[in-house]
Amino acid sequence: MSFSAYAPGRAELLGNHTDYNDGLVLSLAVNRGTTVTGSPLPDNRIALRSRDLSETWEGSLKAIQPGPAEAWYNYVLGVVEELRRRQVFLGGFELEAASTLPIGAGLSSSAALEAATALFLKKIYPYELDPLEIAKACQAAEHTYAGVKCGLLDQISVLFAKADHATFIDCRSFEVRHLPLGTDTRFVIVNSGVKHALVAGEYNERRASCEQAAHLLGKKALRDTTTAELNDARDRLPELIWKRARHITGENERVAQAVGFLATGHMDAFGKLMFESHDSSVRHFENSCPELDFLVETARGITGCLGARLSGGGFGGATINLVRADAVETFAADIAAAYQNRYGSTPLVLATEAAAGGA
Ligand code: GLA
Repeated sequence: MSFSAYAPGRAELLGNHTDYNDGLVLSLAVNRGTTVTGSPLPDNRIALRSRDLSETWEGSLKAIQPGPAEAWYNYVLGVVEELRRRQVFLGGFELEAASTLPIGAGLSSSAALEAATALFLKKIYPYELDPLEIAKACQAAEHTYAGVKCGLLDQISVLFAKADHATFIDCRSFEVRHLPLGTDTRFVIVNSGVKHALVAGEYNERRASCEQAAHLLGKKALRDTTTAELNDARDRLPELIWKRARHITGENERVAQAVGFLATGHMDAFGKLMFESHDSSVRHFENSCPELDFLVETARGITGCLGARLSGGGFGGATINLVRADAVETFAADIAAAYQNRYGSTPLVLATEAAAGGA
C-alpha cells in the first residue's frame, strides 16, 4: 500500500530575517509544493528517489549521515534523524519526491520537502508530536544536514498555513495567527532565477551579526530592541553590526503595523511597508542583488502594484509583489518583459492565492 503527503512552498510577506531574532513575521503558503509518495520497507532499508532530478539514494536507517552539501536527500535524511532523536520510532521506507516548486527561488522548496517527509513518515509509522515539534525537527534537519542556521519561518509556514489567510508568527512565543486576506489584491511572485553560490555562508554570517548586536546591547535577542533604542545606541555598536540590527528592528515594527493594515484592509499602506522592507534589505542588511533590485524598481513603476520586496533569505531568489487583483495579468506580462529585456531570460511569474499548509 502506498502513502503520500504534500507540503506547499511559502512566501515571506514581511519580516525579513526576523525569525531567528525571536521576532515577528507574516507569510503565506503558495499554490505549489512537494509531494512525497512511498511505502514501508523491511530491514530498515531506505530508498529515496527524486522524480525531478532523476536521482536516487539508498542506505540503511541505522547508518545515515549527511551527504554532500546541497544533496536533495539531505533534507529527507535530516528529518529522519531528527524525528528519531525525538524518540519517534521509524522503520525502513521507500519514497519518491516530486515538486512543482522552483528550487532556489526563495519559496522554501527545502522546507516543503522536509515537511512532506515528516508528514509522510507519520502516515507509515504513526507518531505523536505536536505540529510545532514537527516544525522544529524539520528546522533542526536544515541545521544539521544542510548547514543553514535558519529560523522557524519556513517550517511553521508550510505546516500551519491556512487557505486565503496570511500566517502571522511570533517567533518567541510561537503564537500563530491566521489573518484573512481580502480579495481586492493578490500576491505575485517573480523568480529572478539568480542563485548565489554562498547563500548558506552569508545567511549564517547575518545571523551571527544579529546575535552579536543583541549581545552588545545586553538583550536576549533583537526582538527586545526598538529602532529608537538602536538609534540611541549607535555609538556603541560597530557600524556593520548596527546596520544589520537596524534591518531587524525595522522589520519587526513593519510587521506589527502591517497586521493592523491587513485588519482594516489598508493594502496601499501594507504595500508601502513592503517597499520599505526592500530598501532596508538594500541599505542595512545587504542581502539583495542587482536582479532583485531591478525587479522591485520595475514593479514600483507598474500600475496596480502596491508593494514589492525580496522574499526569504535573499542573495537571489524571488520578489513578492502586492498587486491589485484587476492588474495582475498586465503586471505579470510587464515585469516578465522588462526582465527579459534587461537580462535575456524570462522569469517565472507566479500569481498565487494563499494556500493551505501541508497534510
Ligand atoms: C530563509 C530561512 C528562514 C528565514 C528567511 C529570512 O528562508 O530559512 O528561516 O530566516 O530566510 O526571513
